[in-house]
Amino acid sequence: MAIGIGLLGLGTVGAGVAAILSSPEGRHPLVGDLALRRVAVRDPGRARAVNLDPTLLVTDPTLVVDDPAVDIVVEVMGGLEPARSLILRAIAAGKSVVTANKAVIARYGEEIAAAAAARGVYVLIEAAVGGGIPIIEPLKQSLGGNRIRRVSGIINGTTNYILSRMADEGAAYGEVLADAQRLGYAEADPAADVQGGDAADKIAILAGLAYGGSIERAAIPTEGIDRLDARDVAYAKELGYVVKLLAVAERFEASASTATTASPAAATDSVLGLDVRVHPTLLPRAHPLAGVHGVNNAILVEGEPVGQVMFFGPGAGAGPTASAVVADILNIAGIRQLGAPAGALDPLLAASRWRQCALVDGTRTRHRNYVRLLTRDEAGVIGKIGTAFGTAGVSIQSIVQYEASGAGRNGGGGGGAEIVVITHEVEESRFRQALAAITAQPEVETVAACLRTL
Ligand code: NAP
Ligand code: HSE
Repeated sequence: MAIGIGLLGLGTVGAGVAAILSSPEGRHPLVGDLALRRVAVRDPGRARAVNLDPTLLVTDPTLVVDDPAVDIVVEVMGGLEPARSLILRAIAAGKSVVTANKAVIARYGEEIAAAAAARGVYVLIEAAVGGGIPIIEPLKQSLGGNRIRRVSGIINGTTNYILSRMADEGAAYGEVLADAQRLGYAEADPAADVQGGDAADKIAILAGLAYGGSIERAAIPTEGIDRLDARDVAYAKELGYVVKLLAVAERFEASASTATTASPAAATDSVLGLDVRVHPTLLPRAHPLAGVHGVNNAILVEGEPVGQVMFFGPGAGAGPTASAVVADILNIAGIRQLGAPAGALDPLLAASRWRQCALVDGTRTRHRNYVRLLTRDEAGVIGKIGTAFGTAGVSIQSIVQYEASGAGRNGGGGGGAEIVVITHEVEESRFRQALAAITAQPEVETVAACLRTL
């Protein structure tokens, strides 16, 4: 018997989904059982990337959710509202939901999951992270026997596309961003991509699945590529690194007695402390994530006993994202076809939370750092910088001086120095203490860049 599908949105992703549903030949036989019943759009007159019966289109999305012929609601409209309310409305009507909307899931995932569990329906989100890469279901199911130590990845296709083209072709930032928008990679407001918010949404979702507890999305330290200086990309290259926008979620390794946390809930031993963050990062050229270029994403999962596993593939765009959406639809359709009793949910597919997690105080976390300082070019400056790092207990891996270009406050016509330091791993509080001491020195004009290094 046909399973009715209602689409909320027929943009990049929605059109990709509709294209798969309208050409079932050669795909899993269940695809042939899926029937597109209604599609919500804002502007029915707009040209579409897929040919559909125009009578399917409506402008009121509640008509899709409420249609009795729609069994599964697919939310690919984006934004927080009305997307969140429509998802909750579908759940209340006893309909399972598939969504690619990481912004909604990162903020309202707990509310939505609780509503779905109470109503006995699924909300599946494979397309919300990593585009066409299967990562949600592997974390929920295939890797469930592991203690996850770290999940790190390149999980924004737009920024990886921009960084790759800037590094490979010397292309201009604005031009490449416009290409990413034209190709359907970027969010409706690309600030979410370039300022790191989209990657923060996605790492919040991955952390929830990997560690079994939600974290506060708004508290994730987030830095994008919008303020990244091409000089640092060039210096990183000279020093044997590539710069990528990385999202990381890792267990905080300090002993429970020394760990302080950002949340009052984290004061108990039963709460798992996590270091979750998004920032441009220098990766050694040999690192498995350093070779991920263009719109591709990759997620490296490190756990015990599995070791390291890496998931790689196209992270955005119509086809890859639709591939993930349709996989979720098929999971729900398969369960429906088995005739599972109403309200009986597969706990792995439904993804339960089993403990409390909280972000740790950022000053207690440990990282390697890249710093670029603008200084006077005179004897003893490097020595003073080295001493300031040493006094704070920060060990230096390398220190290089370049001739600075442009005017500086010290010399009027420029001619200062640029000093690039890479540190060994150190607690953030010590690193900040060293930077404060360095910037207090009269020879140091400014900290021009400060990036994390793996
Ligand atoms: P999009 O191209 O902007 O498409 C959005 C669609 O939703 C459009 O068809 C739009 O109608 C419709 N829509 C928006 N608000 C509506 C409303 N209030 N009522 C009725 N229709 C409405 O967006 P997209 O790139 O497909 O992304 C959709 C979702 O998937 C977002 O959550 C995004 O984060 C996520 N996602 C996107 C990608 C990607 O590569 N693009 C990858 C993974 C996840 P009109 O066409 O008439 O304007
Ligand atoms: N704008 C997102 C990206 C789409 O570039 O990764 C995929 O989630």
